[in-house]
Amino acid sequence: MEVVFASRIERHPGDWVRAFQDALPQDRVRAWGDGAPEGDAEVAVVWNPPADLFQREPRLRILFNLGAGVDALLRMPGRPEHVLIVRLEDGGMAVQMAEYAVHFLLRVSRDFDRYAQLQAQRRWQSLGDMAREDWPVGVMGAGVMGARVARAVAALEYPVAVWSRSGRALDGIEVFGGDAGLPAFLARTRVLINVLPLTAQTEGILCRTTFQRMRPDGYLINIARGRHLVEADLLGALDEGLLRGAALDVFVDEPLPAQHPFWADPRVQVTPHIAGLSLMGQTVRQISAKIRAYGRGEPISGIVDPEQQY
Ligand code: GLV
Repeated sequence: MEVVFASRIERHPGDWVRAFQDALPQDRVRAWGDGAPEGDAEVAVVWNPPADLFQREPRLRILFNLGAGVDALLRMPGRPEHVLIVRLEDGGMAVQMAEYAVHFLLRVSRDFDRYAQLQAQRRWQSLGDMAREDWPVGVMGAGVMGARVARAVAALEYPVAVWSRSGRALDGIEVFGGDAGLPAFLARTRVLINVLPLTAQTEGILCRTTFQRMRPDGYLINIARGRHLVEADLLGALDEGLLRGAALDVFVDEPLPAQHPFWADPRVQVTPHIAGLSLMGQTVRQISAKIRAYGRGEPISGIVDPEQQY
C-alpha cells in the first residue's frame, strides 16, 4: 500500500515519514509534496492536512489523524464520505493532559501564584489552609482523556465529577449525562476542565450561562478546542467575578493573534496548544499497527462515527 504523510504544520515531516517507513517495511511511505508521483495513496497520516488532499489523492480510503480531535478533518471541504477517519487513541497524550489540568488546579487551589507574589516582596506569610471540599472539580468529557484527567484529580482527593453527552459510567467517579445533567454538574463545580470533542453540540458550550451556573469564584481549564469557548463570555465572566481565572491551551484562532486580549490578561494563562502532544514513538506504533490490520482487512478501533462527530 502507499501511505502519504500530510501536515501543514508539522515541523519535521521527514522524521515522521522515516519512522513510519521503518515500521511499515512492506508499504511505501512518502511525504506530501516531496516531488514523487502523487495520486496513488490509499492511506494518509494527517495533522492539519492541505485543503487539496482529496483532489490530489483521489484513491484515499482511510485517514489516520495524528491527534485525538478530528473536528478539523470532518470540516474539510470535498471530503468523500467513504473515506474513513481514525482518531489517535491516547498516544501518550492523556497523561500529559492530566498533568496540565492538575498543575493549574493546584496553582489556583493552593494559592501558588499568590505565594510567588509574596516571595517577590520577601514576605513570609501563610495564606492559610485549603479545604478540598471548597474546590470541587468538574471534568467535561468521559473519553480516554477525560477519564485520565478525572482519575488524576481523584487521586489527589479533590471531589470530582465527570459530565458527558452519554453519561457513561466511570469506575468510582460521579457521572452526569446529557443536557438534563449539565446544570446539576455545573452547580457543584468550581474548577471546570474541558476535554470534550468539538462537535456541533459542544461548540460554544463554555459560555456565559455555563459560567453563571458554576460555583462562585470558579476557574476554567480548556485543553480541548478553542471553539468550545465563547471567548468574549470568558472575559465578561472574569470582569464580573464569576470566574477567578482561566488556563487556556486552545483558541478560536491559532496561533493566538498578537493583539488578542488574553495575552496581556493576568487572569488568563495562555499556552500554545501543548497540553497533550502526540509522542512520536507511541503514535507511530499505534497507527502502524492499525495500518497493518487495515491492510489485512481486520477491524480497527478509533474509527470516527460521522453522526457522533468523534
Ligand atoms: C490535539 O489537539 C489533539 O487533538 O490531539
